[in-house]
Amino acid sequence: MDVNRDALVAAARAAMLRSHSPYSGFSVGAALLGEDGRVYTGTNVENASFGLSICAERTAVFKAVSEGCTAFTACAVATGTAEPTPPCGACRQVLVEFGSDLKIYLAGREDAVEEHDLRDLLPRPFVTFDRGDER
Ligand code: THU
Repeated sequence: MDVNRDALVAAARAAMLRSHSPYSGFSVGAALLGEDGRVYTGTNVENASFGLSICAERTAVFKAVSEGCTAFTACAVATGTAEPTPPCGACRQVLVEFGSDLKIYLAGREDAVEEHDLRDLLPRPFVTFDRGDER
């Protein structure tokens, strides 16, 4: 399956609509493109015990890994804000666990989509083993 940037952003926007965020009122959707060609979506899921909440990006990563996919080429993140919102530091660290060579597409409510490289969003990440990909 050939998933392009627009399709990945559309999947992230659809996931955003499933956000469970009654406490912050801030909905986020993520869509991660696996090297297997599948798209793994996630949304933020909050909890009355605030610290138990999870971000959309990490939901997507954990879903993918649980289903056997550990290599990714791109991640789209959608929010309802005017300006696109980049992933938080914790999510950058979780994403980089599977490689820095990842395109990040950021979409707010406007049509314009920002394109970044995870390598630039998280320089010199914490890693404990050498995977030989110059992270
Ligand atoms: N959130 C995400 O889903 N992804 C991020 O990268 C940053 C923040 C969520 C967590 C919480 O449910 C809401 O946005 C407000 O912080």
